[in-house]
Amino acid sequence: MAQKHIVIAPGDGIGQEVTAVGKKVVEKIAAKFGHEFTYDEVLIGHLSIEAMGSPLTDDALETMRNSDAVLFGAVGHPKYDNDPTAQMRPEQGLFRMRKELGLYANLRPIKLFDELLGASSIKPEVLKGADILFFRELTGDVYFGEKGRKNNGNTAYDMAEYSRYEVERIARKAFEAARTRRKKLCSADKANVMETGRLWREVVQKMSLDYPDIEVEHQYADATAMLLIKDPRRFDVIVTANLFGDILTDEASQIAGSMGMLASASIGDGTGVYEPIHGSAHDITGKGVANPIASILSAALLLDISFGMKEESEMVIKAVDNLLKAGYRTRDIADSQTSSDKILGTEAIGKLVLTTLDDL
Ligand code: IPM
Ligand code: MN
Repeated sequence: MAQKHIVIAPGDGIGQEVTAVGKKVVEKIAAKFGHEFTYDEVLIGHLSIEAMGSPLTDDALETMRNSDAVLFGAVGHPKYDNDPTAQMRPEQGLFRMRKELGLYANLRPIKLFDELLGASSIKPEVLKGADILFFRELTGDVYFGEKGRKNNGNTAYDMAEYSRYEVERIARKAFEAARTRRKKLCSADKANVMETGRLWREVVQKMSLDYPDIEVEHQYADATAMLLIKDPRRFDVIVTANLFGDILTDEASQIAGSMGMLASASIGDGTGVYEPIHGSAHDITGKGVANPIASILSAALLLDISFGMKEESEMVIKAVDNLLKAGYRTRDIADSQTSSDKILGTEAIGKLVLTTLDDL
């Protein structure tokens, strides 16, 4: 029996729909195992701008900081996508949360459920057994460097900056994780172009001396992008900078069949934040068709990493697996084999996970 306080931050768009399901799964686990979880809900992103005049208020941030874990959805709104001059943007809430909670390591596991071999556009024989864990650095790079305009607004710049310390702490997490897996680490950088890439490589090379049991490979990130599709099974752990990690993990989501399947954990020195890698998807918001599995699997990561509840976490993954085995799909992971009566919406999949959990 454990007591934990969880902050639910659904954010915008389908973030609302999928996080509601993720929360129900956490509640179900608490009931099954006799844990006492309490909850707070906070605004972040576009809805926070509308209600509070800020994409993340100090209050919301403090509520997160004082909790044991945060289950987050997504932020964004099309209104800003088409207005590059907007002064306040939903994503600023996300960046503030990442920076202020010190969430420097974003873990993105890419694991294909066997049942979804046919859902990917990559050939099944290339995919089968692929299992990759990304460590995306999350509080540095062009995301947080100095940015601006010059030449009367006609030139724009975003500074990429990394300190030795920042590279070391994310690489250390990746080395340690590789040790518990297949002992392979790929470090993806652009050391052939960027000074930050050369520092990155220098730091990882030096650290590899402390990890003689880990096979380290340095790749240029463009080659990594190619090899991920050509031969995903060659990878075990991949560590990379913020922007490369953002792009490479969207690409890698296709190994798992859909963006709607991928969960992530953002961790640092304090409270961890757990979120799907997909965005707010306003094109399907309100239609009830969003895949809630990424949020459900984010809840599983939360139980495991922040609460050390291995058994509980594995039970959630097992429930998802069972439901896929039974043939149920949201439309993003349906293929030509899926009968139309098994293609379900967000809530129906959520309900099925709960009843599957009852039976486990
Ligand atoms: C992600 C997202 C964000 C990012 C966006 C919403 C700013 O794509 O978490 O991967 O670029 O980090
Ligand atoms: Mn992204």
